[in-house]
Amino acid sequence: MAPHPGGLTVHTDVHVDTEVHVDIEGHAGTGSVVRVRGLTRRFGGRTVLDGLDLEIGENEFVALLGRSGSGKSTLLRALAGLDPDVAGDGEVDVPANSSVIFQDARLLPWQRVLANVVLGASGAAAVRRGQERLAEVGLAGRERAWPNQLSGGEQQRVALARALVGEPRLLLADEPFGALDALTRIRMHGLLRELCERHRPAVLLVTHDVDEAVALADRVLVLEEGRITVDTPIELPAPRQHRHPRFLEHRERLLAALGVTQEPASPGGRPATEETSR
Ligand SMILES: Nc1ncnc2c1ncn2[C@@H]1O[C@H](COP(=O)(O)OP(=O)(O)OP(=O)(O)O)[C@@H](O)[C@H]1O
Ligand SMILES: [Mg+2]
Repeated sequence: MAPHPGGLTVHTDVHVDTEVHVDIEGHAGTGSVVRVRGLTRRFGGRTVLDGLDLEIGENEFVALLGRSGSGKSTLLRALAGLDPDVAGDGEVDVPANSSVIFQDARLLPWQRVLANVVLGASGAAAVRRGQERLAEVGLAGRERAWPNQLSGGEQQRVALARALVGEPRLLLADEPFGALDALTRIRMHGLLRELCERHRPAVLLVTHDVDEAVALADRVLVLEEGRITVDTPIELPAPRQHRHPRFLEHRERLLAALGVTQEPASPGGRPATEETSR
């Protein structure tokens, strides 16, 4: 653990060759998987994260919204221990056993699907775990396929299986469904929710999509000007219905927080949505 600019402490199991204190493993308060205090990230003269605070509880599914460029990926990278240049006067606590999933599946093209899931682990137990995860994501029987023999959605399922194979305490996901078509995306929502209920990691899901956030998360955050400006619990009956009045209420409030107004419905069509100039 090395000091980062400003004395920020970062705790993480990922080796971080950095000057910030990253403490991976278990110093978050009881019931907290992630605890961030006073996290700052500057690029040149520009402050993207500005003394940010964040807490995520055990098994909690948190969605993070924010305009493009607001710093969502920057935050996720800092939590994943992938950013050696975070600073601040506080601390970043994330569990040792965390995994990350990105918009692109990032599979190794020279490894078959099962090898991509178990990532270097060998032995019967690892193989069995890999096979189980693949079955859970609907890819039983594709263990020996090469990544380029899978569709984009299937590749993302493999990435999800890989992310869960080590039973992480924390799953960090940066727009994991951003490149998928609408139908595949909806299927992946169901799958992610189901897998998270089974494996119970805490989740931080970065997304642009307000509907995705409300459909999946226990709590939705909005990142703006370097801080969390909205932090709202989502309590809806399961299964969540997009037409439920409380779903629509959350949606509207979050869109407003993101600076988006909804125009009255055009005849026979969905409400037009447009970004306000601010
Ligand atoms: N390595 C870098 N060097 C310089 N500026 C950077 C770097 N990484 C990110 N930034 C800047 O930091 C800001 C936040 O970027 P970030 O990728 O975190 O945004 P984001 O909220 O994830 O956006 P999007 O929704 O488009 O993915 C942007 O203005 C970006 O240009
Ligand atoms: Mg991003």
